[in-house]
Amino acid sequence: MRQITVIEHLLIHQKASPMATGRFTRLLNELILAAKIISREVNKAGLVDVLGFTGETNVQGEQVQKLDDYANRVIIHRMQRAGVLCAMASEENADLIEIPDKFDTGDYILIFDPLDGSSNIDVNVSIGTIFSIFKRKNSTQSVTLSDVLQKGAQQVAAGYFIYGSSTMMVYTTGNGVHGFTLDPSVGEFLLSHPDIKIPEQGKIYSVNESYWHYWDEKTREVVSYFKSPQNERGRPYSLRYIGSLVADFHRNLLYGGIFMYPADKKDPKKPSGKLRLLCEANPMALIVEHAGGMAIDGRRRILDIEPQELHQRVPLFIGSKKDVQKVAEIFGK
Ligand code: AHG
Ligand code: MN
Ligand code: MN
Repeated sequence: MRQITVIEHLLIHQKASPMATGRFTRLLNELILAAKIISREVNKAGLVDVLGFTGETNVQGEQVQKLDDYANRVIIHRMQRAGVLCAMASEENADLIEIPDKFDTGDYILIFDPLDGSSNIDVNVSIGTIFSIFKRKNSTQSVTLSDVLQKGAQQVAAGYFIYGSSTMMVYTTGNGVHGFTLDPSVGEFLLSHPDIKIPEQGKIYSVNESYWHYWDEKTREVVSYFKSPQNERGRPYSLRYIGSLVADFHRNLLYGGIFMYPADKKDPKKPSGKLRLLCEANPMALIVEHAGGMAIDGRRRILDIEPQELHQRVPLFIGSKKDVQKVAEIFGK
């Protein structure tokens, strides 16, 4: 296959992708550089002192891993200087991240999970970075939270980097979903998975079954369906759950299947489950829909949900269209 870089691919699709303006290309370039720097650190994590915890607790109430913090700082440092953003929001930061006055700004808003799957960092299991890009509605007064709290359908682009057996980038600007693999010898992400489509029905379900006793009856009925020999396939789906959304999602995107993080009663402070709407569910929902799949919270399309706050959590059922439709049918009864 001719070696096509991400930026070449974006420019080739320029006519189809209104996002391929110079400023968007600049944004993507800086994000790619940040990912290469994070990938380098992840790939030598066992050798240098970036394993373990920083000893701090983040806004999510979670222990901050050194690589979480490192990835967060790398992205903020690079993207502040990109000259195309008016604001950023990170899973690791309680509030909006302003762009210091000394840097140029633009109309794009970047929301990101700097390192997804943190519990897997120290045991060499795939982890990733998730990003979601919006344009602010009004370019007049200074950016406010309402510019950022847009529903997922308004995203102009979304994607993720996955640091696994290889480092990949998967993203969409609304014109298909495309995968690129990092060739470390040239330091470029090269097109390896053009126009990804998720199989209409999968053979895999991904959920943390240890929460069974914290689920409501409908959720139990959904999970029981996928592992039942009496389901429409006539045989149980295979359970595959890594504990990194990016890795579980990426596998199901390519092979077909459904990933579920339902609402549960294990933590009264988090009745909607653990995953965040803005930096996890929305970007993955945009990708899966442009790959022919579906993403709901059980009843509502993820991309239609009007966010009320920055770190809002949402139940997530995402993947092959027929499998997610089955979830909607059970919840809708
Ligand atoms: P993060 O590391 O960014 O906090 O995300 C971890 C998330 C997601 O990657 C994964 O699907 C989920 O946590 C696993 O949660 P459980 O351990 O509760 O199953
Ligand atoms: Mn995450
Ligand atoms: Mn994270």
